[in-house]
Amino acid sequence: MTVAAPAKLTVSLRVRGVRADGYHELEAEMVTLSLADELVLIGGGSGLEVVAEPGTRPEGLPPPAENLIGRALSACARHASVRLTKRIPLGGGLGGGSADAAAVLRWAGRTDPALAASLGSDVPFCVVGGRARVEGVGERVSPLPFATRDYLLALPPFGVDTARVFAAWDAGQRGEGPNELTVAALAVEPRLARWRDALGDLTGREPTLAGSGSTWFVEGTVTGGGTAASLHSGDATARLVRVRTVPAGWGGA
Ligand code: C5P
Repeated sequence: MTVAAPAKLTVSLRVRGVRADGYHELEAEMVTLSLADELVLIGGGSGLEVVAEPGTRPEGLPPPAENLIGRALSACARHASVRLTKRIPLGGGLGGGSADAAAVLRWAGRTDPALAASLGSDVPFCVVGGRARVEGVGERVSPLPFATRDYLLALPPFGVDTARVFAAWDAGQRGEGPNELTVAALAVEPRLARWRDALGDLTGREPTLAGSGSTWFVEGTVTGGGTAASLHSGDATARLVRVRTVPAGWGGA
């Protein structure tokens, strides 16, 4: 069976507090994107085959027993051979691993939020999909009316470590704006600034950071830059990806 695993975009994010265990209580709006991994699952089998599209950094994928596909299968006590076509880059903050785990849970018919949350904070939203307000550490998902939106994403050639971004926020690197983690992410990874500026120069709009990064995005269809597939800064390149929102239950392109 073929299952789509669409990426998520965190379009706004506020930090509401810190729990006793150090995790941060958030209030975020998330949307599901037309950029999607694809899983072909054959029940009863075993093994994970990965077919990665260029620029997705598949070397960051943990071994099968530890990655979110393997963990999702064990969480619902299922065995399957899985062929994963990876299109969502790793480390960009687009929830690729969570999307894959959510796809396994949907395939297994196990969509209870507690099970999803046990696999990772973005998995409950990815199970539901569409557009939602997400609270707590991601376990509370309240669907919002679907809205068709276009986004231009800039994917820098590096990822950002989420734990370090929250640690920088704890240390006082805070700011206003649609994403309250932006100042902390820039402190952890100063190279983010040049890609924000490059996307801003291309589009004439102010980019927003997706979650803890490394993806920057602007909303709308962008005429500046035409259909360029990449952004350049010095000798480094960021991929440009045009996406749109898709509703809950979307089954792939
Ligand atoms: O969700 P993810 O595994 O990417 O989170 C990585 C780290 O970021 C966590 O181990 C935690 O230190 C921090 N984090 C947090 N509050 C959240 C989500 C993540 O402090 N809501």
